[in-house]
Amino acid sequence: MCGIVGYVGHQQATPILIGGLRRLEYRGYDSAGVAVANNGNETRVIRCRGKLAALEALLEQEKPLGTCGIGHTRWATHGRPSDENAHPHKVGSVAVVHNGIIENHVGLRVRLRAAGRTFSSQTDTEIVAHLIDEALLEGAPSFIDAVRKALRQIEGAYALVVLSDLYPDQIIGAKNSSPLVIGLGKNEAFLASDAPAILEHTREVIFLEDGDIVELSRKDVRVSDVDGKPLSRAPRTITWTAAQAEKAGYPHFMLKEIFEQPRAVTDTLRGRLLVDKNDAVLDGLDLGSGIDRVVLIACGTSYHAGLVGKFLIEASARLPCEVDLASEFRYREPVITGRDLVVGISQSGETADTLAALKEAKSRGARTLAICNVVDAAIARAADAALYTHAGPEIGVASTKCFTAQLAALTLLSIHLGRRTGRLSEDAAADFIRELLLIPNKMTVALESMGEISKIAERYKNAKDFLFLGRGTNYPIALEGALKLKEISYIHAEGYAAGEMKHGPIALIDDGIPVVVIAPRGKGYEKVLSNLAEVRARDGHVIAVATVGDKTIAEQCHSVLWIPDAPALLQPLLTVLPLQMLSYCVALARGNDVDQPRNLAKSVTVE
Ligand code: M6R
Repeated sequence: MCGIVGYVGHQQATPILIGGLRRLEYRGYDSAGVAVANNGNETRVIRCRGKLAALEALLEQEKPLGTCGIGHTRWATHGRPSDENAHPHKVGSVAVVHNGIIENHVGLRVRLRAAGRTFSSQTDTEIVAHLIDEALLEGAPSFIDAVRKALRQIEGAYALVVLSDLYPDQIIGAKNSSPLVIGLGKNEAFLASDAPAILEHTREVIFLEDGDIVELSRKDVRVSDVDGKPLSRAPRTITWTAAQAEKAGYPHFMLKEIFEQPRAVTDTLRGRLLVDKNDAVLDGLDLGSGIDRVVLIACGTSYHAGLVGKFLIEASARLPCEVDLASEFRYREPVITGRDLVVGISQSGETADTLAALKEAKSRGARTLAICNVVDAAIARAADAALYTHAGPEIGVASTKCFTAQLAALTLLSIHLGRRTGRLSEDAAADFIRELLLIPNKMTVALESMGEISKIAERYKNAKDFLFLGRGTNYPIALEGALKLKEISYIHAEGYAAGEMKHGPIALIDDGIPVVVIAPRGKGYEKVLSNLAEVRARDGHVIAVATVGDKTIAEQCHSVLWIPDAPALLQPLLTVLPLQMLSYCVALARGNDVDQPRNLAKSVTVE
């Protein structure tokens, strides 16, 4: 997830681009840059690693002049944050900014190299600049034809904005799966990832659709498809304030991030599932041989993802898998050997405990892998290799979309290990991958059917305690549901393995305690139903998370939160969604600061 902006008109482009990037910095902030066309002279590109402030300091020294330009604030996905990997990427006459992931970048890079082209970055984006430059040199009749020729060769997700020295009064944008909005002005036009970037200049916008290509000049805005067929897209007037628009109209970042989860999971899986080979590839990593055991280490929500990971890895790869709290790992004498794969899981990649634990494992000879959302963060650098989640920046302190993206990454890892060890048969892998690919749509369905939750939250907002119960793969989700509620509503909550209830927590149950029972159909369902009956027999108030259409559950509970059916190993990607929403709605009903709850920090960089 990056922020991109473009301008063509009668004003100086640079201040407009910087103003737009400032409003998009929440989409990424590891490097930034601008390219400005200068009336037939060579386009100036100024870019650097670091936040936008670093770019602004550079621009103090030399402000590029020109009335047509593009800008970018980056959230690295391919290639570490560095000056060379910062956008725009310029090749020949062509400068490109990009948000998304080009899935077939490896093959294209090989082809372009064989054609004598050299690369100055590790990004997938530079390939797009090469392809457009190649098309222009091969005699494409116009700039847009060259862009179309390049687009026909790329697969994946993109919002692209392109300019060329040869066409200094024109910018071209293209969209597929990543957002891009046009702003309409008088003798000027804008392009941006998100409306807040341009709202101070215009409220007349066109939201582009997948497959759209737009040609912008001072006088004209033309939308067409990859074959050149003109398309009509109606303008809309935006009534949001810029601050509302930054959150895409959601009142809080947490809510926006909850709804972004189908996209975060899709992006994390993107390009890594080989459907025709029933396999998963992990960005060139080859794991499996020489590994006798997997150890997952993490803190907080990431630790809960690890607990689900244990089920996935043991089921698919039949390798023993242990999960450790990073804050505990170093303070005993962990038994680690050179045949262990130790995986540090961290949204931020900066958590001090996880970093220290990973280094400890490495010093004991383990192979190490980081699953991390921030490219080149400390934990990714400390590990032998990294598998990045592509959730985009998470702003809300309570982790939501990074959790489900971590589950997606762990699912990929389990398939990869299973195929390498030979313990996941091709048929089983095919079935599993088929189900996995259905998950993002099922997540959307689950998120769209949560109308009742605010009523439930209102009803229980003054409860002193909550209990969350789950079995198997949903036991970690009980822990996660309780953690979410504690973090932002400040209500005491406990997650428990449902079968353990009778060994203690059942003493807590009376008519004052809401009990959230995670009871989707499938493995362990009947047993959870028995646990539910035990709660009911003691007057506990039951809120169930259940498979849509389950009448048995509906008859036995006070409220039900529905999710679509899925195999047990993939259920956590769905069952966690209503629990995130429940904690959000309870916190809201109690008037709490949802995005910045008291006493917490987004990255815990102290032990
Ligand atoms: O950045 P990390 O994933 O390493 O962070 C670990 C925990 O600090 C984090 O998950 C914390 O528990 C969140 N606030 C949960 O919402």
